[in-house]
Amino acid sequence: MVTPYKHEPFTDFSVEKNRKDFREALQKVEAELGQHFDLLVGGERIRTEEKIISINPANKDEVVGTVSKADQEIAEKAINKAEKAFHTWKKYSAEQRANVLMRAAAIVRRRKHEFSAYLVKEVGKPWKEADADTAEGIDFLEYYARQMIELKDGKPVNSRPNEHNRYFYQPMGIALVIPPWNLAFAIMCGTTVAPLVTGNAVLLKPASNSPVIAAKLVEVLEEAGVPEGALNFIPGSGSEVGNYLVDHPKTNVISFTGSRDVGTSIYERAAQVKAGQNHLKQVIVEMGGKDTVVVDEDGDLDLAAQEIITSAYGFSGQKCSSGSRAVIHKDVYDEVLEKTKQLARELTVGEPNSADVFMGPVVEQAAYDKIMGYMDIGKEEGRLITGGEGDDSQGYYIQPTSFADLDPHSRLMQEEIFGPVVAFCKADDFDHAIEIANNTEYGLTGAVITNNRAHIEQATHDFHVGNLYFNRNCTGAIVGYQPFGGFKMSGTDSKAGGPDYLKLHMQAKSVSEMY
Ligand code: NAD
Ligand code: ALA
Repeated sequence: MVTPYKHEPFTDFSVEKNRKDFREALQKVEAELGQHFDLLVGGERIRTEEKIISINPANKDEVVGTVSKADQEIAEKAINKAEKAFHTWKKYSAEQRANVLMRAAAIVRRRKHEFSAYLVKEVGKPWKEADADTAEGIDFLEYYARQMIELKDGKPVNSRPNEHNRYFYQPMGIALVIPPWNLAFAIMCGTTVAPLVTGNAVLLKPASNSPVIAAKLVEVLEEAGVPEGALNFIPGSGSEVGNYLVDHPKTNVISFTGSRDVGTSIYERAAQVKAGQNHLKQVIVEMGGKDTVVVDEDGDLDLAAQEIITSAYGFSGQKCSSGSRAVIHKDVYDEVLEKTKQLARELTVGEPNSADVFMGPVVEQAAYDKIMGYMDIGKEEGRLITGGEGDDSQGYYIQPTSFADLDPHSRLMQEEIFGPVVAFCKADDFDHAIEIANNTEYGLTGAVITNNRAHIEQATHDFHVGNLYFNRNCTGAIVGYQPFGGFKMSGTDSKAGGPDYLKLHMQAKSVSEMY
């Protein structure tokens, strides 16, 4: 019997020993920086001329590593190798496949700070955020392993006299995994190992901002016992390799997490049946958010200010779950705004070289330019309260920014900025607050700060988001505790880290035998 699932604890950085251990991990990783990682196709390492160069966004001069870059020819080879491997991998027992994940979890847990240190370097995560990202990846490994064992015999169905009916799940075939860079370890890991543990052969095309941490996971999964060809590592251009594999007639499952524009185009492309294709593709598409913290008139206003800060500025607002809108009852609006302003001014921004740095850089020049573009829009649409400034001379740093008095339909209130920018908007009453909270095309996360039981009931039904939180911030869903996925244009609501997730990578079969 395996031990029951429990989520990985977070590191307490107020303990000096933990800080020291983390500093040592950073030093180890710093000594390794600049390494090259090859592709992995059918168990063979392939080195290409063309490379993806991964840069530390906190310090543009620092190369984290380089990764070989697949083209369409290599993608075709990978799909053929995956097809071959599928026929043996699918016949491994559920326990054998689960065992690979649990071994991988043990390996990562032993090297936890090292993985987090790579996240600090590759995507500029503050220590606490990096630690949570690694912990979430470990959680996916442990949770999906146990879920697979639970699902292995399928579900009970009725049988009549002289009849034996069974209902169970089988893998689908070849799964293409396209993760984002922001939860660079957790989402990349979870979306890779879910199709794997269910018996599919996987093609992992990591995000170009975070290929090194993906290469590290691939090494771990190999060490843990994934057989040749069951997992293929093919970094490459989204529009070239990504589209080629999305369109490919042999692709069975597509698991994408990323922006709305790319997600919707993948959804559309995957629906087109190509010559030689004899199945419909299963598509999981998890996309962006424009997430809201609602503050009610009788809410705890200190808590509200603290949770707005955590929601908006954790990892510089670069989470799909980031609370980039604060919708506040008119009677407490000024007070919450003032409290939030005071807290925002205390936040530290800089290179994450100590546990005390709250906010690091944003991920790349294009993100920096896009976010800074919203500063001008914000000044036209509202009133600048904090921040508004950036510095991209050494890394891509942007001050925690807030704008007040936004119209509910303004661009700042509607568009996903994906940076440390929060828009404040006044509501006449609670009904109005929920109406504003629901007025975007997204429906991913939301939080309500209130002490009114009737309003908790009302929001539970009417606040149309996949993940809703009361009296806390709207980020940081935990695997196995708060399954994660959004409504509306936030995606297919797959609920990663939940009891229904693995089934999305399998097909149910009914078998009936007469005696
Ligand atoms: P992105 O859409 O730019 O890229 C995501 C992935 O798609 C990357 O691996 C990229 O290489 C690939 N890609 C890009 N163009 C492609 C194409 N034409 N065909 C196939 N693949 C292609 O997103 P991003 O910048 O990496 O991530 C940020 C976005 O992800 C935000 O919108 C954020 O809200 C969203 N996100 C959503 C969730 C969720 O669970 N809903 C979680 C994390 C991030
Ligand atoms: N688990 C991540 C969050 O909720 C996606 O922020």
